[in-house]
Amino acid sequence: MTTSTRPQNPAGDPRSAAPVQGYAGVAAARATELSKVYGQGETQVVALDRITVDFRQAEFTAIMGPSGSGKSTLMHCMAGLDSISQGSARIGDTELTSLKDKKLTQLRRDRIGFIFQAFNLLPTLNALENITLPMDIAGTKPDRAWLDRVIQTVGLADRLKHRPNQLSGGQQQRVAVARALAAKPEIIFGDEPTGNLDSRSGAEVLGFLRNSVRELGQTVVMVTHDPVAAAYADRVVFLADGRIVDDLMGPTADSVLERMKSLDARVRTS
Ligand SMILES: Nc1ncnc2c1ncn2[C@@H]1O[C@H](COP(=O)(O)OP(=O)(O)OP(=O)(O)O)[C@@H](O)[C@H]1O
Ligand SMILES: [Mg+2]
Repeated sequence: MTTSTRPQNPAGDPRSAAPVQGYAGVAAARATELSKVYGQGETQVVALDRITVDFRQAEFTAIMGPSGSGKSTLMHCMAGLDSISQGSARIGDTELTSLKDKKLTQLRRDRIGFIFQAFNLLPTLNALENITLPMDIAGTKPDRAWLDRVIQTVGLADRLKHRPNQLSGGQQQRVAVARALAAKPEIIFGDEPTGNLDSRSGAEVLGFLRNSVRELGQTVVMVTHDPVAAAYADRVVFLADGRIVDDLMGPTADSVLERMKSLDARVRTS
């Protein structure tokens, strides 16, 4: 199934029978003709080339593609962490390019959750303090029951008093996941959120993201190289050379792998 034959009405998607209703088709984030160019002249790199894509509310989207295809750049531009060169990037109805620094900082803090490897934890704070930091900064109180559930799920209950340098890489990653989920943001962007985890903790985190989409209407967009991880998503968007080259609904690990192979073959023969 390609983009052109994918049902435009989400009712055509068997997964629309999920318990969360009322979001059908509403975009939590949207890129329109979004381009991102780094550098100038000979060193110029077109990292994103007129990308148009909707990330619908209460949908879990995986972004896949070869190294250098623009996945991280797309996450950064959509999350307001990097400027865009042309086109538009929206979170809900808010056009990111229209925002001055202060408003953009507020939007990132109040409406977006991040699970980025580059988003380091603060070394002087313990795990729990790192998890609640965005809410502490915003002056909001965490929903205690939800916070406990998040902490249990990522398996950090006995590490809450540890500082990042007393945690393994995978545990630090779990703190980052818990931090993103704790405030129930409008949308969560993850750049290989389970990349540092062993397969069991990875599966737990992915299952948790999956459930937060199904049960709470959380919107999640996640970059991954792993077809098994992508199969937790409702949809996979494939990038190559800064463009969207394919789009797959209801992925399984096998169908993702198949699609990756046929895209590879297409690239080799073109
Ligand atoms: N700050 C930057 N300055 C110049 N070029 C950059 C910068 N960031 C990324 N690029 C280039 O933009 C392109 C897309 O990079 P990006 O990091 O988005 O790829 P990716 O798909 O996330 O790759 P990977 O799977 O390796 O993480 C690459 O060619 C990269 O070299
Ligand atoms: Mg990347």
